[in-house]
Amino acid sequence: MNATARIMLSGFTNLSEAEIEPVLLTKQTIFQENTAFENSLFALAHQQPEQAIKLLNQWIETLPSYDGPVDGSDVVLPNVKAPIDIPRHWIEKPVHFIPNGFANPKAPRIIYVARNQYFFCQEQNLTEWLWKVHGAKSPKRILDMGCGTGTTTFVYGELFPNADVIGIDLSAPLIRFCRDWKAQRAADNVSFYQENAEATHWADNSFDIVHFTYLVHEMPQNNARKILHEMYRLLKLGGTFSAMEVMYDQTAEEREARVSRSRTAEPFLEEYMQLNLPTAIGEAGFKYIKRHYDNKFPSSDGMFLTALKPTS
Ligand SMILES: C[S@@+](CC[C@H](N)C(=O)[O-])C[C@H]1O[C@@H](n2cnc3c(N)ncnc32)[C@H](O)[C@@H]1O
Repeated sequence: MNATARIMLSGFTNLSEAEIEPVLLTKQTIFQENTAFENSLFALAHQQPEQAIKLLNQWIETLPSYDGPVDGSDVVLPNVKAPIDIPRHWIEKPVHFIPNGFANPKAPRIIYVARNQYFFCQEQNLTEWLWKVHGAKSPKRILDMGCGTGTTTFVYGELFPNADVIGIDLSAPLIRFCRDWKAQRAADNVSFYQENAEATHWADNSFDIVHFTYLVHEMPQNNARKILHEMYRLLKLGGTFSAMEVMYDQTAEEREARVSRSRTAEPFLEEYMQLNLPTAIGEAGFKYIKRHYDNKFPSSDGMFLTALKPTS
C-alpha cells in the first residue's frame, strides 16, 4: 500500500479492514463498480463531513487525471473556437466538496461513484422512467445538458438507437471521461462536447428532446433561468423539455429541511428552492408542465418534469 493510502486509513478507525482498503485505479480500471472504500467514504460524508473532506482531498490525488489542452480544444464542437465561456460561479464556488469542483481533472471517478447515490443517477431508474415518459416518441435529436459522466446520455442512446444523442458539460475532464466510456460501451449514436448550457452553439429549433439530470440546483437562479430559456430556443416547435432534478417539496418547511440537510455540499440549494423549477419552466414559455415522479414517493431525492414548446 502506498503512502497516500496509508494516511487515509487513519480516518476509518471504526470500520473493518476490508472497508478501509482504497483501491488504486487507472484509466483502464476506472469503470469498475464502487469499491467498499468509496461507499464507506460516502457514508462518512453523511456522518462526519469534515473527516470525509480530509480523506477525499487525499484520495483524489490517487485518481487518474483527465488532462488535455488547457483551452479544451480537444473537446469543443468542431466549428467552435476554444476556449468556451465558463460561468464564474462554476469556478469560484465549487460544489460537492471537490477541490476545484467539476473542473478538477481527477474528479470524474468521484462523480461516477455518486451514480449509485441519487435516484435518477441510477441507470435502471433512468431507463425505466425515460422509457415510461418518452417511449412512445420517435426523437431524431436529443440533447442532455450537464451530462456529468454521461449516464443519462447513454441511456437515451440505448432507448433510441436511431437518434443522435449529444451530452454537453462545462467540464473538459468529464467530457474526456465520457468519450472513454463511450468507446467501452460502443455507443455509436452518442457524442460528447464541452459546451455551456446557458448559451450553446446550435441553431434555434435543433432538438426533439432537451433534457437535464440534476443540473440547475448547482447554480445561481439567474444562470438556471438562462438554461431554461436556452432549452426553449433549442427545441423544435412541439419538442419536449425533460428534467430530473432535486425535489421541489410542497411545503416551505420541507424545502427548508432539505436545504439544511445538504447546505455544505450544495451551496446553491436555497436559491434553487427560490427558483421554484416547476413555475420557472412556465415562465420560460413552456406549456403542459407535468410532474411524473415526485413527492408521491416520500423518500425520493428527485422529481421528473416534462413540458412542451408550443407549436404556435
Ligand atoms: C450534479 S452533476 C450531474 C451530472 C449528470 N447529469 C448526472 O446526473 O449524473 C451537474 C453537472 O452539470 C455541469 N454543469 C453545470 N453548469 C453547467 C452549464 N452551464 N453548462 C453545462 N454543464 C454544466 C457540471 O459540470 C456537472 O457535471
